[in-house]
Amino acid sequence: MINHVNMINHEKRILIVDDEATIRRLLHQKLTKQGFYCEEASSSDEALEKLKTYPADLIMLDMKMPGKSGMDLLPDLKRQYPTTAVIMATAVAEANLAIQCMRLGADDYITKPFNLEEVIMNVERTLEKRMLEMKIKEYQENLQQKVEQQTIEIRSLFLGSIEALVFALEAKDKYTAGHSRRVTDIALSIGRDLNLSEDELDNLRWGSLLHDVGKIAVDQFIQNKPGKLTPAEYEHIMIHAQVGAGIVKPVVNEKVVAIVEHHHDHYNGSGLHQITHGEQIPMGARILAVADAFDAMTSDRPYRPAISVEEARQEIQRCVNTQFDPVVASAFLKSAISYTPSEDTKAAVINK
Ligand SMILES: [Fe+2]
Repeated sequence: MINHVNMINHEKRILIVDDEATIRRLLHQKLTKQGFYCEEASSSDEALEKLKTYPADLIMLDMKMPGKSGMDLLPDLKRQYPTTAVIMATAVAEANLAIQCMRLGADDYITKPFNLEEVIMNVERTLEKRMLEMKIKEYQENLQQKVEQQTIEIRSLFLGSIEALVFALEAKDKYTAGHSRRVTDIALSIGRDLNLSEDELDNLRWGSLLHDVGKIAVDQFIQNKPGKLTPAEYEHIMIHAQVGAGIVKPVVNEKVVAIVEHHHDHYNGSGLHQITHGEQIPMGARILAVADAFDAMTSDRPYRPAISVEEARQEIQRCVNTQFDPVVASAFLKSAISYTPSEDTKAAVINK
């Protein structure tokens, strides 16, 4: 046990701070014999100077010294060297003050005149306690890091799976293949033009990629009906926004959920079962509405062929203030966002 302790002692550095040279020498000799490495300082200022180049594990600090006292130095030490242990050295009559120092962050105190065997026990106990505290802290930090890392991995795996599900759903249908990817590119382009923050763009990206995942609940016959939809059929198709929001809710933040939920809202509040209007509709959903409509209009649908880019732009212009937010539509029309239907996964920004 003694050898074990001495091995630990060899790696430990102690700074003895006391204005009395005899006390410093006494402690220095005893602690060195126990295998500790020691340095001395005769005042608080000298101690601060020494600590700049001498990373002490423990400071033995005389409470009363001329000039800045040990008690005054203690808060500075705790602030600048939070991992360094501090033992206050005090006269027996000042025990109350020593307890006050422990409240200020000192680890322990010893009373003068010293019983050197007690001093050694005290130092070793304080250092072991400090070492344990550091290990626990390191363990907790590692654990927290691991949990955070795993949470990110699980979330990304889940989102990846939902994204794959969306692409698989779309790929089954020649009319919608690649729709979500194209819509995402267009929506992000509008978002950047509107100076959205990186976080808002990230929400917009996920909202756009996942916006139609609720179509998994939509009857394929109705979705692919070549003729005009009845009001009941239209209502059935439109449940996909609500269903999609429910699917993504466990893995994305509430802003992404709201983008998915409101992506068919009309700016003037005239959409089906709509309770929001204007700027109550999340900005991401207003952007997605324009991008989604543009891609839908320029793609073939079972009930009509695609219209040209120019015609789609005119239609968006026509529906400003009714279906679309004027600010979003204007950003879209100004930057002349378009895509080439043959490169169906690409959105290109032209004329910029
Ligand atoms: Fe949709």
